[in-house]
Amino acid sequence: MKGIVLAGGTGSRLYPLTRIVCKQLLPIYDKPMICYPLSTLMLGGMREICIISTPRDLPIIESFLGDGSDLGVEFTYVVQEHPEGIAQAFLLAEEFLAGEPACLILGDNIFYGDYFQGGQAEGNDSGFARDVEEFAAGGRIFGYYVSNPQEFGVLEMNASGGVIGIEEKPQAPKSNYAVPGLYLYGSDVADVCRALRPSGRGELEITDVNRTYLERGDLEVTRLGRGIAWLDTGTPSSLQEASNFIEAIEQRQGLKIACLEEIAFAQGFIDAAGFQQLISRLPSCDYREYLERLRDQAV
Ligand code: G1P
Repeated sequence: MKGIVLAGGTGSRLYPLTRIVCKQLLPIYDKPMICYPLSTLMLGGMREICIISTPRDLPIIESFLGDGSDLGVEFTYVVQEHPEGIAQAFLLAEEFLAGEPACLILGDNIFYGDYFQGGQAEGNDSGFARDVEEFAAGGRIFGYYVSNPQEFGVLEMNASGGVIGIEEKPQAPKSNYAVPGLYLYGSDVADVCRALRPSGRGELEITDVNRTYLERGDLEVTRLGRGIAWLDTGTPSSLQEASNFIEAIEQRQGLKIACLEEIAFAQGFIDAAGFQQLISRLPSCDYREYLERLRDQAV
């Protein structure tokens, strides 16, 4: 399974912040936003990751993340010239995917909770990493209970909880279950996207991709429970709330969320020498001290 992070869009709701730099590089507490979705993919065991962004922002993201080799992963960068929808990501990344299944995460989606922590959750050998490993074909999406479903893709369910429909930002949502920006698809996803027609707003909608798989009887929907946090970062308030959430957990535990260096080491993507190399490149700061503590505990 290969990973894709879509970090495009104009971020208009965050203007003027996004006049300087894209939303996905704005801070969520102590690190740029893009670290959080990247960490989800890395915790899911993915090491080949394609990052898609605008012509303006892609070089900045690349100068921040590099080719990934220091983290034991491989980043590929692809430009999205025009924001023509989330599903366009699979057409842009088709060469990168080279016929493998794909996991797409939106660059402004933050997931936190045991299911996603993989090797970091003690005694937990199930969860997202296992689901990624066992995924073969079709589509797999998630459902998450929210108070404002009309702002998202929304699930429609029958009396026994089976998903029978999905609507994009409906005015009258048929449930409170939103579809978060994390999607797994088989190797046919680019073909599915090619067959789509742009929506009223001129975009290839991810909801139409999901509907195609649903209508074929080939879509699995996993509901994420209340023990999981899925955070939204599209507005100044939600950006602030996400920062406060991350700060509260990090301060309480003394452990960082979405620390890519830590995850690369914990996942075995790099060895102790590689970890030390990452540390030695950092200036003296809290982040470096944190990694030094992890290094000393690992000995
Ligand atoms: C997009 C998708 C929507 C999904 C949401 C998750 O919305 O179109 O189906 O629920 O991401 O963040 P957008 O963020 O483009 O408004």
